[in-house]
Amino acid sequence: MADNVARLSVDGTIIDLEMQSPSEGNEVIDVASLTTRGYFTYDPGFVSTASCDSAITYINGNEGRLLHRGYTIEELAANASYLELCYLLLFGELPNQKELHSFIDRVKEHTIIDPRFIAIAKQFPKTAHPMGVLCSLVGAMAGIYHREGSWDSFEERIEIAIRLIAQLPICAAIAFRTIRNQPIIPVNLDLDYGEHFLHLMFGESSDSLPNKVLGKAMDRIFLLHADHEQNASTSTVRLAGSTDANPYGCIAAGVAALWGPAHGGANEAVLKMMADIGSTDHIEEYVNRAKDRDDPFRIMGFGHRVYKNYDPRATCLQETCHEVLRELGIEKDPILDLAKALEKVALEDEFFIERKLYPNVDFYSGIILKAMGFPPDMFTVLFAVGRTSGWIAQWHEMVSNGYKIGRPRQLYTGPNERKYLAITER
Ligand code: SDX
Repeated sequence: MADNVARLSVDGTIIDLEMQSPSEGNEVIDVASLTTRGYFTYDPGFVSTASCDSAITYINGNEGRLLHRGYTIEELAANASYLELCYLLLFGELPNQKELHSFIDRVKEHTIIDPRFIAIAKQFPKTAHPMGVLCSLVGAMAGIYHREGSWDSFEERIEIAIRLIAQLPICAAIAFRTIRNQPIIPVNLDLDYGEHFLHLMFGESSDSLPNKVLGKAMDRIFLLHADHEQNASTSTVRLAGSTDANPYGCIAAGVAALWGPAHGGANEAVLKMMADIGSTDHIEEYVNRAKDRDDPFRIMGFGHRVYKNYDPRATCLQETCHEVLRELGIEKDPILDLAKALEKVALEDEFFIERKLYPNVDFYSGIILKAMGFPPDMFTVLFAVGRTSGWIAQWHEMVSNGYKIGRPRQLYTGPNERKYLAITER
């Protein structure tokens, strides 16, 4: 028996459970054997459950720290490009110059516009939400690129990851432009990743060039959304992957999970909330509603399952917000002013202080994206573009290291066994 053991005493029985130590963070108690003793653990929402081991991302929620393969998000946001981070997430080490150039070249090889995706997107009504279109386009990748067992080797898995990283911006732009009956802009492989996305979204022709500062800001926004441990959408991707499902289908499942306003959909919900609040005169009213347990209203972009301190991504995004507004010559942004006033009121309120509720990644991202010209219903699409690298890196790690099919149990609260009654007796 390992010396690191948790001793459980239940119904007079002592059960010794092995513990495992992390490189950083909480010790874990291995409870897998409990079912053979007739017990389950019970943890709705997985508040205290480690679903896997992973070496990709670590969050210290109390300290507001976020590491990707050991590097802080602050250092990565200040120094790395999004594709450099994609390489780090997938391979575990920062690339040297040669490795990065080769990786970028491979992404560019897959940066092609498949007319079948345009045809699929055109089937949607103009009222379609772009996240629904994106979900379908990524699902279409599962149909188009499916080959039995075509991800058995490390190299095949990397190829799938690179194709997804290359194709998601294109799918996002196709979703955006077809809903608006706008022509699809041809790719321009001379542009960096963030710039190229802005070109695909807002370009007027194949040689129109986007603003370099905005392109860099877009790249950083993707970087800040890349990965975040076992959040709801990443756990969805892993659970789907644990059935040996098609990896593109797993990513489509991740897109669907991210859409919810409790998760990645919060950035769009923040802008709607700001419009509902309208002015600083109404902040108090909305903060009081957020504190009222009988009122379902919550301050969108606030709170987090793991962060009980500032989300470091929110800090980076606030800085990016100022950069973008300055570049766009926007001296005053009423929504940003309202957001800062709301943040100040909430952070000084006992209810929020007691529950350690702080702005999260979604609080400021929508303000930047709106200033850059994105409509609110595209905000979560951009989150999905950035998060694709994290989803596929987590899937790759799981598939590369061996896994069991994910199959949680339950606390059954339904009727005990009973006899079927003929309808004439009911
Ligand atoms: C993302 O997991 C990730 O890593 C996600 C993410 C990622 O990168 O993948 O970081 C991205 O999803 C960020 C979160 C975006 N969602 C929102 O901004 C929506 C608003 N936030 C809340 O819905 C909530 O904070 C959650 C969903 C984010 C977290 O919910 P939890 O962990 O289940 O917390 P909880 O609901 O148990 O709340 C604890 C208390 C409750 O009050 P009491 O019951 O103790 O009285 O805090 C309150 C909640 O009512 N609370 C809020 C609040 N969030 C929590 N009260 C007002 N406004 C809020 N935003």
